[in-house]
Amino acid sequence: MKKTLLITGGAGFIGSHVVRLFVNKYPDYQIVNLDALTYAGNLENLKDIENAPNYTFVKEDITNAEGISSLFQQYKFDGVIHLAAESHVDRSIVDPNAFINTNVMGTANLLNAARELWNGDYEGKLFYHISTDEVYGSLGDTGFFLETTSYDPQSPYSASKAASDHLVRAYGNTYNMPFVVTNCSNNYGQNQFPEKLIPLFINNIRNKKPLPVYGDGKYTRDWLYVVDHARAIDTVYHNGKQGETYNIGGFNEWQNIELIKVLCTQMDEKLGRQEGESAELITYVKDRPGHDRRYAIDANKIKNELGWEPSVTFEEGLSKTIDWYLENQEWLDHVTSGDYQKYYEKQYS
Ligand code: NAD
Ligand code: TYD
Repeated sequence: MKKTLLITGGAGFIGSHVVRLFVNKYPDYQIVNLDALTYAGNLENLKDIENAPNYTFVKEDITNAEGISSLFQQYKFDGVIHLAAESHVDRSIVDPNAFINTNVMGTANLLNAARELWNGDYEGKLFYHISTDEVYGSLGDTGFFLETTSYDPQSPYSASKAASDHLVRAYGNTYNMPFVVTNCSNNYGQNQFPEKLIPLFINNIRNKKPLPVYGDGKYTRDWLYVVDHARAIDTVYHNGKQGETYNIGGFNEWQNIELIKVLCTQMDEKLGRQEGESAELITYVKDRPGHDRRYAIDANKIKNELGWEPSVTFEEGLSKTIDWYLENQEWLDHVTSGDYQKYYEKQYS
């Protein structure tokens, strides 16, 4: 069936994998990628599909309510997959307002534009909001986040994402707008901006720079390969039940320090360095303020109801990720030039 689909944040890390999957898999869909191209957005991520006949890129900022509204009127979107966001916890600690503007106000602008266009006729329409497990707060040593877990966000980033999740559900409840929300654990894979743990550490190991481990390094995250997240988004968009929430995770919990050791070992092998050489770069640094101790997702609902599960093991995914960064030095050089250096010095000096 022909559809026009808006994907926001498609030039970013996860968004670019979602755009690629939809453009290649659904030639009948017209895919419009809307992205403001902030520091995290990079059209080099989509070189392979930029000339596809069913793909259009639009540079726009979701905080521009008028611009967003007129795009909805122009393209008459049937569906929205909303990924555009400020996404890095450390940056949210330095500048919360950027997160409130984009994540809260930007989401409200998209909801309002969808409501205006669809005008109560919701046949074949869907607003799909991509969120994070961080909205549930921090766990102790045991337990898992379920879809029914109460929200308890602890950082400006997670609070802004929680607010946007609430808005989406409120529009569903108040205006009957068809929606789904997914809350996913930490992603890793190719094209991730090197401010997040795994690509930052790959880049630093390669350049023999210190590996800044926050606090005692015993913080725990669940890690999912980004291509598997894109597959989950495809599954939920097409088969998810309207009004539902699905948690997405990798069934793959790691303490940061243990993950970093595996990364160091793989990097030593791939770079032909002596065993243990990269681990010597590990440097414990001042902790992140308000650092959430543990995230752990129970992803059994999407597994049991929609038949999705991760397809790639962590060791395979990590190996592919390292290979990609080592083979794409030019990409890394582009994204780490200019403002990145200033960010890095401010964050880690
Ligand atoms: P990212 O930072 O790599 O990409 C975000 C994209 O949004 C960039 O292309 C950026 O240019 C764009 N953007 C930012 N502000 C914008 C604005 N005002 N208007 C238009 N575009 C704007 O982020 P990501 O890691 O790909 O995350 C994508 C989504 O997935 C986010 O909503 C994030 O909260 C969610 N998420 C991420 C993870 C993760 O581990 N990375 C996990 C769960 C959920
Ligand atoms: P990050 O990739 O920023 O994702 P999030 O905070 O959204 O989970 O961080 C993952 C974990 O790694 C988190 O516990 C913080 C830690 N971390 C470090 O120890 N050092 C670093 O330089 C970074 C960026 C993260």
